[in-house]
Amino acid sequence: MNVVLLPGDGIGTEVMAQARKVLEAVLPGLTLTEHRIGGEAMVHDGDPLPAATLEACRNSDGVLMGAVGAGDYAWSGRTPEDGMFTLRRTLDVYANLRPFRSGEIDMLIVRELVGGLYFGERGTRPDGTVFDTLEYHPDQVERLLRRAFALAGTRRGRVTSVDKANVLATSRMWRETAERVALDFPDVELDHLLVDTAAMRLVQDPAGFDVIATENTFGDILSDVAAAMAGGLGEAASASLTDDGPGLFEPVHGTAPDIAGRDIANPTAMIRSVAMLLEHGLGQPDEAARVEAALERVAARTPTADRGGSATTSAFGDAVAGELLGVGVSDA
Ligand code: NAD
Ligand code: IPM
Ligand code: MN
Repeated sequence: MNVVLLPGDGIGTEVMAQARKVLEAVLPGLTLTEHRIGGEAMVHDGDPLPAATLEACRNSDGVLMGAVGAGDYAWSGRTPEDGMFTLRRTLDVYANLRPFRSGEIDMLIVRELVGGLYFGERGTRPDGTVFDTLEYHPDQVERLLRRAFALAGTRRGRVTSVDKANVLATSRMWRETAERVALDFPDVELDHLLVDTAAMRLVQDPAGFDVIATENTFGDILSDVAAAMAGGLGEAASASLTDDGPGLFEPVHGTAPDIAGRDIANPTAMIRSVAMLLEHGLGQPDEAARVEAALERVAARTPTADRGGSATTSAFGDAVAGELLGVGVSDA
């Protein structure tokens, strides 16, 4: 099996170095190849997603990404983030799974990732008006919701579909589609929430949610709220899946320019993304569970600064890899 590593920019490179150690410790037989994406690729290749990177990703069994987006590339007319959008879209990884667990909280946001406001027509009219459009075909919504219902069936059996049906036509179609898909999942309960109310509930009662299924932009915003309620951005991982092809596994956080280059970022979100790669991408759920267990032991012993400790990024990564190899560390 071969896995492509895309460190990217900022703390992306720092947390990816830890993910590599963990992958090498947990599945030594894997072939790992590193490629450029984002700002780093713009500098070296003049393209935020070089052809060689895209080709390697398409031919892989899974792609691990750090984060992209640092530096000023206004001169180029493109952004590092463009590379990530093209990658998501080309791999057609429409189902973005973002689990949040902490204390009583155990929720999964299923965010539509390759449509909606991010990918609709945009431009500038002759009078200077700038526009972005939010559009969906019902098939795009249906496949996302089917995923969400199927996942809910393996959990507590509840889907909360989040929309803005009191304003948006796409949301009214989304709601109708959810009602129709629900008929095929009699064991899963469906409810609807408007996105503003959902934001409030996430803060007031995060433990009340099981699966949240929602549009691209809504899911982006709600996942940072959920992360804040469940240990912070340093802990939140994601898996972006398609029907037949490699998945993309990346933390929810970005390049964190405010802490980059200091070896203090929390690599947990990145290492949890490795666990999601093992489970959803490589069919190795036992190895995924081993990684999660190792993470828990290290976090209890030597947390990073964002979790009230003083472990460096690299020391944390070494400790997780050490747990998996069974060397050099104890639970004492
Ligand atoms: P961010 O997620 O990079 O950082 C937000 C805050 O969380 C910062 O204070 C940061 O220090 C903290 N933080 C994030 N990850 C952390 C970690 N692992 N450990 C400890 N603290 C952590 O968001 P931002 O600053 O708004 O965005 C910076 C850049 O990252 C932007 O260019 C944005 O587009 C990009 N971005 C990329 C991705 C991605 O590649 N998937 C995701 C989000 C943002
Ligand atoms: C995320 C990020 C990206 C997104 C940014 C960097 C464009 O915030 O993965 O959550 O909005 O999808
Ligand atoms: Mn985001």
